[in-house]
Parts: sequence; structure tokens; C-alpha cells
Amino acid sequence: MSQSLSSSPRRGAAAGALHWSGIAWFAVAAVGQVAFIGFILAFYGVRTAQGNFAAWNDKPLIDGYIAGDHAGNFVFAAHVLLASIVTLAGLMQLTPALRRALPTLHRWTGRSFIIIGVFMALSGVWLTLVRGTSLSTISSVAILINAVLILTFAGVAWRHAVKSRFEQHRQWAMRTFMVVSGVWFLRVGIMGWVLVNQGPVGMTNTLSGPADMVLTFGSYLIPLALLELYFAAGRSANGLLKLFTAAVVFAATVFTAAGVFGTIAFMWGPYL
Ligand code: HEM
Repeated sequence: MSQSLSSSPRRGAAAGALHWSGIAWFAVAAVGQVAFIGFILAFYGVRTAQGNFAAWNDKPLIDGYIAGDHAGNFVFAAHVLLASIVTLAGLMQLTPALRRALPTLHRWTGRSFIIIGVFMALSGVWLTLVRGTSLSTISSVAILINAVLILTFAGVAWRHAVKSRFEQHRQWAMRTFMVVSGVWFLRVGIMGWVLVNQGPVGMTNTLSGPADMVLTFGSYLIPLALLELYFAAGRSANGLLKLFTAAVVFAATVFTAAGVFGTIAFMWGPYL
């Protein structure tokens, strides 16, 4: 198939556009995820290391630090601090140069990504259902489905790796990356939407407006749908499908860039 692609300039150009759209999106996402890691360490990391747990609440949160709630505060701290590690591990897993140059590191960051991803989902469920941290029923349902998808996809990706089915493993690892990144996509989506519309159109302060519903469920369903389209276009010999998909991914890159700018400038930057 690679021969037939390279023998036709039009198909070759379409395959090239598809390839570069994926790289452009990943580069923008990597900048946004590194900013997320930096924010977590500079905000939660510094306050936790200083023992100043009450200062977690210096930024708007649903619950954060609650005096006397030792279990809840401990799980919250573990959840937010490990968020930086799982995000870093996910980025390292998807960087092909690193995977090729350091395969042993790739295996260890892969194991860490899956184990911490599972912990993130379970601790998130605990915070939502046991601690009772919730803005609205609909936003909690959306993030609980995200948790179920993380647990399912991480299990499937792990199983394919153990059985040495590397192509399936690669695809499920990318699906797992998309759902583990759901909470990051939600923040980027919210800020992208607010910037594009010059205001919180269709949003409420309990994340239950019509735009909120699209953003909360879409924070993992839209990236998963785009990933499937990208996989299908990559497999297909149809140059038009490749070009269409490249255009969609470039549009998603522009929206992601707006959202990344918004999170850094308005969501995280002001609290550092
Ligand atoms: C694996 C991906 C996840 C990452 C990277 C992540 C990251 C974070 C971060 C950074 C915070 C701190 C809040 C902030 O500063 O904005 C947080 C809080 C929280 N997360 Fe997660 N999370 C993940 C998955 C989940 C899941 C699957 C759930 C629920 C099922 C969940 C539920 C919560 C809750 C309830 C809070 C407390 C929010 C508050 O008090 O305002 N998280 N998470």
C-alpha cells in the first residue's frame, strides 16, 4: 500500500497532508499538556510541599481542601499530583523518537501511564461518589463515563502489549491517551469555546448548559471520533478521505491552539 501511495503524487500529497495534520495537532497538544503539568507542579506541588494544604483553595474548586476531611484531602492531593505524572507519561509514550531511541524507557513509562491512569479514574470516582464532589448530576455522569472508558481502554491496551499484538496495542494506547486526556480536553474545550464566542454562550456555573453538555461528553467522545477518522483515513487508499481528514484535524489544531492559549492566559496563569 505504501508503494501505491507514493506512486501517485495526488495520493502522496494527501497522505503527507494527513501525516502533517497529525503532527501539527500533537505539537499544539504537547505545548498545552506541558503547560498543564507546569501549572499542577507550580500551584498544587508547591503548596503541598510547603504543607499549606488550605492554599489549594486559592483557585476556584468544587471542594479542594476541607478542614478535618483527612481521607478526602489525601485522595485529592494524590489525584492532582499524579495528574502531572500521568500527563507526562502519556506525552512520552506518543513521541515516536523517544520510543525508538529508548524502548526500555517506553515500556516503563507505558506501565506507569496505565497504572496511574487507572488510579486517576478510581480516585476520581471516589472523589465524585464518596466525597461527593460534584457540580451537577449531568457533569458527574459525563466524567464517570470518562472513568469507565479509561479503565476499559487501559485494560485492553495492556492486554495487547502482554500478548505482543503491537499494532492493536498502539491503537488502544492512543485511544487510552485520548480518554486519559479527557479532563485536559475539557479545560481546553471550555476556554476555546469561550474565546471563539467571546463569552460563555450556552454555559452555566454548574456545567449543565447545552454547550457544557457538548463539552463535557465531547471532551472524550470528540477526540475519540477524530482519532477513529484519522485511523480510517490512514488505512484507506482514498486520497479525498485523507484530504478531508487532514482539513478536519487542522481545524481541530486551530481550535486546540485557541483553547491552550485560553487555559494558560485565563485559567492557570492568573493563579501562579
Ligand atoms: C486521568 C485523567 C485525570 C486527570 C489528569 C485529572 C486531573 C485533575 C486535576 C488537575 C484536578 C484539580 C482541579 C483543577 O485544578 O482544575 C482534578 C480534580 C478532580 N478530579 Fe480529576 N483528573 C483525571 C480524571 C478524573 C476522573 C476520571 C474523575 C471522575 C470520575 C475525576 C474527578 C475529579 C474531581 C471530583 C476533582 C475535584 C474537583 C474540585 O474539587 O473542584 N478526575 N483532577
